Amino acid sequence: MSARTRVAVIGGGQNCEHEVSLASAASVAAALDPGTYDVVPLTIDRDGTWRDRGLRPIGLSGAAQVLRGCDVVFPVVHGPRGEDGALAALCELAGLPYVGSGIRPGALAMDKWATKLVAQAVGIATAPGVLVSAATAGHLRWTHPVVVKPVAAGSSRGVSLVRSVETLRPALDAALALDDRVLVEDVVEGREIDIAVLRCADGAVVASPALEIVADGIFDYDDKYGGEADLRVPAALDDVDAKALEDAALAAYDALGCAGVARVDFFLTSAGPVLNEVNTVPGMTEHSQVPRMFAAAGLGYADLLDELVRSAR
Ligand SMILES: Nc1ncnc2c1ncn2[C@@H]1O[C@H](COP(=O)(O)OP(=O)(O)O)[C@@H](O)[C@H]1O
Ligand SMILES: [Mg+2]
Repeated sequence: MSARTRVAVIGGGQNCEHEVSLASAASVAAALDPGTYDVVPLTIDRDGTWRDRGLRPIGLSGAAQVLRGCDVVFPVVHGPRGEDGALAALCELAGLPYVGSGIRPGALAMDKWATKLVAQAVGIATAPGVLVSAATAGHLRWTHPVVVKPVAAGSSRGVSLVRSVETLRPALDAALALDDRVLVEDVVEGREIDIAVLRCADGAVVASPALEIVADGIFDYDDKYGGEADLRVPAALDDVDAKALEDAALAAYDALGCAGVARVDFFLTSAGPVLNEVNTVPGMTEHSQVPRMFAAAGLGYADLLDELVRSAR
């Protein structure tokens, strides 16, 4: 009998999605088949402290030692200092195979402004928007409703739909509390539809069935994690829209240079798909969107995780 593969599953992280990541990481750790995998959990506290399986603080050097004893790393840290390429960089420097996107796709996709530029360059529509900082936010003139959001955050933290001039400044301040760069975007009218893209262990790149989010206003934190969200998978789409969304999802994944699984989020407008964002470390509990999308295609949660780990090796 061959030895089991040791997989380090990293959760937590130093940003506003800490709890969301802990849930994803715990779920991944529990679902990796114990007959094949020996899971080694690692946690990063909000202040950056690394902790081992017993939640003992071990420091970065202790974590590096644990990682060196593993065959593959499965980073499940959303947001800055995780999803943005930071953990991919750590694995690269340590010479360890890891699940998911590398440094550049992680960094590019984490940056909603850079994502727009890449998408536009390959002909994928995005919402018109401007970039502001604390220094320039005051010059912004109110003209029409906008969505204000941090360039790099997640879970809808700091995202506001601004319908009136009085709420613009508080929205900018809320976004600037999470990032020093903020996007002010036109409001896109359309259905919210997400597609996951996966590079399989055999190298094939596949798109999942589409998932529609039916939300009133923006899809906010409570909608996402309150268990009340109306998620429909597969989304009801005609062939033309389905193909346009799938092509755009694959093109975005490819243009950014993603690996593993990424969730590509769109608005479907009367003029076709408009890309909202790409998540290179999407929510990964069994009930999160990505596992639900692949389950709809017949790929169960444990098999999806297995595919991810095998494609990393
Ligand atoms: N330009 C936009 N027009 C309409 N709704 C938007 C726009 N940008 C974001 N939203 C809404 O806000 C939600 C969160 O924004 P998003 O950019 O996805 O941030 P996060 O990375 O936090 O998920 C989206 O799921 C969508 O419901
Ligand atoms: Mg989003």
